[in-house]
Amino acid sequence: MPAISERARIVPASPIRKLVPFANAAKARGKKVLHLNIGQPDLPTPAVFWEALQKAQPKVLDYTESGGMPAFREAYARFYTDIYHIPLEAGHFLTTTGGSEALLFAFLTLLNPGDEVVVIEPTYANYIGLSKATGITLRPVESFIEEDFALPSPQELEAALTERTRAILLCNPSNPTGKLYSEAEVRQIGELCRRNNLFLISDESYRDYCYDGEKFFSALEIEGGDAFVVVVDTLSKRYSACGARVGALISRNTEIIEAALKWAQARLAPPTLGQIAGIALLSLPSSYYESVRETFQRRRNILTEGLRSIAGVTCPTVQGAFYLMPRLPVSDSDAFAQWLLERFDINTTTIMIAPGTGFFSQPEKGRQLVRIAYVLDEPYLEQAVEILRAALNIYAREQVPIL
Ligand SMILES: Cc1ncc(COP(=O)(O)O)c(C=O)c1O
Repeated sequence: MPAISERARIVPASPIRKLVPFANAAKARGKKVLHLNIGQPDLPTPAVFWEALQKAQPKVLDYTESGGMPAFREAYARFYTDIYHIPLEAGHFLTTTGGSEALLFAFLTLLNPGDEVVVIEPTYANYIGLSKATGITLRPVESFIEEDFALPSPQELEAALTERTRAILLCNPSNPTGKLYSEAEVRQIGELCRRNNLFLISDESYRDYCYDGEKFFSALEIEGGDAFVVVVDTLSKRYSACGARVGALISRNTEIIEAALKWAQARLAPPTLGQIAGIALLSLPSSYYESVRETFQRRRNILTEGLRSIAGVTCPTVQGAFYLMPRLPVSDSDAFAQWLLERFDINTTTIMIAPGTGFFSQPEKGRQLVRIAYVLDEPYLEQAVEILRAALNIYAREQVPIL
């Protein structure tokens, strides 16, 4: 057989999905697996989604315009204006197949192969994969669990810039750390971009998940940022609608939107059904977001408290998204995550977690970290903590002790 491409060879497997065969084998052996490994919220997708689909019943499931249905883009603009108080127009939105495609279009539209992008690590694993696929070099600046994954200082960020740097890619709140960056920090990054003539790609997929009364500040709110700010958005997490596969690339710089439209045309159209039902989701009242936020804040509290009650576990204090990234008393989080699926259970139940290695360009930096998604109801999270506590106890006895 001819050789597959170099880029296909170097793209890493998703750290979240690579344990799936072990989870499937565990289930085939009769185990129950609590999935804390993937950012798939468990809440029911709001009823208006299904009602809109039933009402629409299109005779032909046709393509929509490549940039999205006008009615969908208008609903998106109204949503941003009314719910987030960020005045935007339909023309500022390019409809995409989830935030994933918005990221791909941002990379393809703003960057050339060989260009560099500064990211904060640990980082969303797909940024690493996407950069490899598009020939872009990520320049990671590390954040640390001891500092609750705080934003690195402006000096550290500035030190990562080279003459090839074209953008800063910020995930706010962060997947995988759960860190929420403040208004002052977002402004600071905006200032850095302005001074150095860089794009700011702000992935705000989790912006509805901010806790302890903290207010989210979008990069779209940076005064004078219209030319260089690009936001990645999605309906996936906001509405527990990951399978709808709709999101948007957003910018007030319409030159960017028009250029990205060419990539959108090459893939013809975003999902029609997701857009039809997405219009109904984008029209939900603000009370919806409030109740989701409260649910996840309670879960974060339970999980943080639970993790901190386990000997040897360090759990940061974070206020966003639905992830926690604790440090465990293990020397290899990949081996531990696999062991949990293959060798451990309490009354036939075990947990699946994401090893920290996949969230770094240098995997060894994440050897003791794991990412836990609190996408299950409270009793399951309590059960998961007890499983982890017992597992760590037994694992420590089975393994060579860490020096
Ligand atoms: C930070 C971040 N950005 C973007 C996405 C893309 O999600 P989707 O393609 O479902 O919108 C995800 C999904 O997990 C994510 O965590």
